[in-house]
Amino acid sequence: MIRIENLVKAYNGFRALDGLNLEVRAGQIYGFLGPNGAGKSTTILSTLGLIFPQEGRIRLFDLEVFNGGRFDEKNLVRAKFRIGYMPEQAALWDFLTPVQTLEIISDAFGIPKSEREKRIRELLQRVNLWEERNRKVGKFSKGMEQRLLLAQALINDPDLLILDEPMSGLDPLGIAEFKEIIREEKKAGKTVFFSSHILAHVEEICDTVGVIVKGRLVMEGKIESIKREFLGKAGYTIIVETNLPVDFGGSGWKVSSIGDRKYRITAAEDIREELNDFIVSKGAKILSMKVKEPSLEEIFLNTVE
Ligand SMILES: Nc1ncnc2c1ncn2[C@@H]1O[C@H](COP(=O)(O)OP(=O)(O)OP(=O)(O)O)[C@@H](O)[C@H]1O
Ligand SMILES: [Mg+2]
Repeated sequence: MIRIENLVKAYNGFRALDGLNLEVRAGQIYGFLGPNGAGKSTTILSTLGLIFPQEGRIRLFDLEVFNGGRFDEKNLVRAKFRIGYMPEQAALWDFLTPVQTLEIISDAFGIPKSEREKRIRELLQRVNLWEERNRKVGKFSKGMEQRLLLAQALINDPDLLILDEPMSGLDPLGIAEFKEIIREEKKAGKTVFFSSHILAHVEEICDTVGVIVKGRLVMEGKIESIKREFLGKAGYTIIVETNLPVDFGGSGWKVSSIGDRKYRITAAEDIREELNDFIVSKGAKILSMKVKEPSLEEIFLNTVE
C-alpha cells in the first residue's frame, strides 16, 4: 500500500530523511514509532505530496507518485481519493461546527449530497461527537479536535488511513475508543499507518511496528520482538524490596540501595527468577518486585549510538 525507497528529504542541507526505506502491506496496522524529531511527520507529509523530498521513490497502492525528484500529480490525486489523512496539528475551521466541517470535506471528495447527511451522522456517532455536532470547533478541547480530525479522515471511506500522532491529546477512554475504531477499520479490510512516539500506543493494536531514528528505519517487526530486542539492549531495571538487608556481593549484578531494604538492580536480561533464588539463598524474602520498562526515549538513548 505504501512503498518508500531511499527517500531523502533535506531541510537546508539537514537530512531529516536520510535514505528511508519502508513498506506497508495491505491489511496491516502499522505503527510508525520514533522519538521527537526522528522524521515521522516528514515521512507522512512526503508520502502525501505535502512537502517535496529530493530523492527516492514513493508508491501508493499500485501507483508511482514520486520518482526522480518529482511527484506525478495525476497519480498522487488518484491515490489521495483512497486515503484518509489525519495531520499532527489540527487544521480546523474554528468558526464552523463539526457538521459544517464534514460537509465541506465531503464536497471536496465529491460525495453526493444524498449520502452526505447519513455518512456525517454515522461518523460523528462513531467518534463520539454527535452531541457536539452543532458547537463551534473553536471551542473544542484537544481531544475533541482529534476526534473530528479522525472523522474527517474517514469521510471518504478510505482504503488507507495515514494518521500522524492520532492519540495525542486523548484521555484513556478516548484512546480506547480510537483503538476500537482502528480495529473496525482492519476488520473492514482497510490498512492503517500511524505514527507515535509512545510505545504503549502502538501495543495491542499494531501487527507491525517500524522504528525510525534520525531519518532511517532502524527496526521493523512484530511488537513483541521489537520490545524484546529493545528491552534486551536497554537493560532491565528491577526494583526489589526484601524483609531483611541483603548483601549482593558476588551476585555480578549492578545493585544500588534506594531505601531501607529496597534495591535497584539493572541487568541485561530479565533476571527475576535468579534474583529470587539469590535472595532466598541469603536467607531473606522478597516483599515486592517491580520491573520498570524503559520509556522509548530511554531506549533510544541506550540503543541508538
Ligand atoms: N520545515 C522545517 N524546516 C526545517 N527543519 C524541519 C522542518 N520540519 C521538520 N524539520 C526537522 O526535521 C526533523 C524531523 O522532523 P519531523 O517533524 O519529521 O519529526 P517527527 O518524528 O514527526 O517528530 P515529533 O514526534 O516531534 O512530531 C527534525 O529535526 C525537525 O527539526
Ligand atoms: Mg511529527
